[in-house]
Amino acid sequence: MAATVRCTYHLRDKDTGSEPEGNGTEMSKLRPTGEATPRTDPLVPGADALSGRLRRAPENFLTPEEIGQVGKGRRDFLRASFLAAAGATAAATLGGRGAAAADTAGDPDILNPTPWGSSLGQPVAANPYGLPSKHERGLVRRQSPGLTQVAAASVSFAPLQGLFGIITPSGLHFERHHQGWQDIDPTRHRLMINGSRPEFVKTPRVYTMDDIMRLPPVSRMHFIECGANTGMEWGNVAVPTVQYTHGMLSCSEFTGVPLRTLLEYCGADLKAAKFILAEGGDGSSMTRTIPIELVMSGEVMVAYGQNGEMLRPENGYPLRLVVPGVQGVSWVKWLRRIEVGDRPYAAKDEAVHYIDLMPDGQHRQYTSIQECKSVITSPSGGQQLLDKGFFTISGLAWSGRGAIKRVDVSVDGGINWTEATLQTPVLSKCLTRFTLPWNWDGRPALLQSRAMDETGFVQPAYGQLRAVRGTRSIYHNNAIQTWQVAESGDVNNVQIL
Ligand code: MTE
Repeated sequence: MAATVRCTYHLRDKDTGSEPEGNGTEMSKLRPTGEATPRTDPLVPGADALSGRLRRAPENFLTPEEIGQVGKGRRDFLRASFLAAAGATAAATLGGRGAAAADTAGDPDILNPTPWGSSLGQPVAANPYGLPSKHERGLVRRQSPGLTQVAAASVSFAPLQGLFGIITPSGLHFERHHQGWQDIDPTRHRLMINGSRPEFVKTPRVYTMDDIMRLPPVSRMHFIECGANTGMEWGNVAVPTVQYTHGMLSCSEFTGVPLRTLLEYCGADLKAAKFILAEGGDGSSMTRTIPIELVMSGEVMVAYGQNGEMLRPENGYPLRLVVPGVQGVSWVKWLRRIEVGDRPYAAKDEAVHYIDLMPDGQHRQYTSIQECKSVITSPSGGQQLLDKGFFTISGLAWSGRGAIKRVDVSVDGGINWTEATLQTPVLSKCLTRFTLPWNWDGRPALLQSRAMDETGFVQPAYGQLRAVRGTRSIYHNNAIQTWQVAESGDVNNVQIL
């Protein structure tokens, strides 16, 4: 297989409408030299027990102002910041080890009393709503510099590179608003259910939050992915880290009432009905058509709960639609109306946006299922392997068509593949965490993951996807992601066709 590696970064104006800025430069044709690592026990004989140190991705140390500089094209500045942070980390780590080696008295951090072990801690409820440690303050959702002109109609990306397991902490859930977010008074929020013709819904009703929350609830874990996730990478490598390539992705336990139950209470004619229209209460006139089969499956949920508490305002408080497996735009936030009808509505967000531009110039509508996809979150772009030896490759896999069946990982750009371990639980239309032990020999490597779902669908390579979809699309890019590990340990975003 010819490994054509492209690695030019450029930013894009919007996730809707604009085209990639140029085709990028083919920097080199690399022959992958990293060998596939046989599946081994983490305690590989010969592996340095202290190895596996990783410098975090730049989002963990750049301030929002500094990231803004990157948007203005100041790459020299970014490089300098990378080096400064790398230097600081390396100095700190080497300093620690060096000191330990040189000082026969041993490591002061284990031998001496610590301030936290010899003083009174803070009182209970000092933070009535708990916060992450101050040492983790770099791990935040971030807006990609230059992506959109107006922050109220924009995206913030979840920091996938720093998350464990499959649940996204609610405060780090990605955001996509078309007209800003609102914090709606739940006592004044209403959900109306009606038919496009009177015979479709016998008893149109208006529900209060109290009405909805007294009904028997269901709780289920599901991923939500914006259809535009990875959309900047259709033409070429565009952004450096997994936060920006794949961070329009989150996963929560949602609690609510199946929409089917509410429609049945209203006497909806679920045989005559073919579609529903979901409408949001914000100023964006967000309306989306959803096929009735999805509603009839019982999976579509009118949700008020997220990870054990009420939805966050940014995610639709007090009520949002949860449409498992379907692109995020259909998960209408601040949900205020459901209309039952017999034809697709061709609303603005399904006629102009969230459509697939095909190579022949035609647009494809209503391709809303998020196909099988995966990404390695560590090691990933912007990180640096600080020494050779043992690492755990870890990432996320998901499919809008069901459960993940298997994930293969390659460290040589797709020449050899090894089956990764899937962490439990492995749930339908939910993120699945995979891991693979890896002993880095210090030579260049090309890390990839390739997911397969329970339908047998296998995540495509860029070459396969582009053969069908071209390079000028925005939505539904589920191609295999490649992270190039250089001899220096630097990890970069590249594309292999
Ligand atoms: N619903 C309303 N009412 N307004 C919006 O702007 N954005 C949609 C969808 N629902 C949107 C909306 C889009 S494009 C996405 S990807 C998801 O919400 C994002 O959900 P999140 O902000 O909770 O991550």
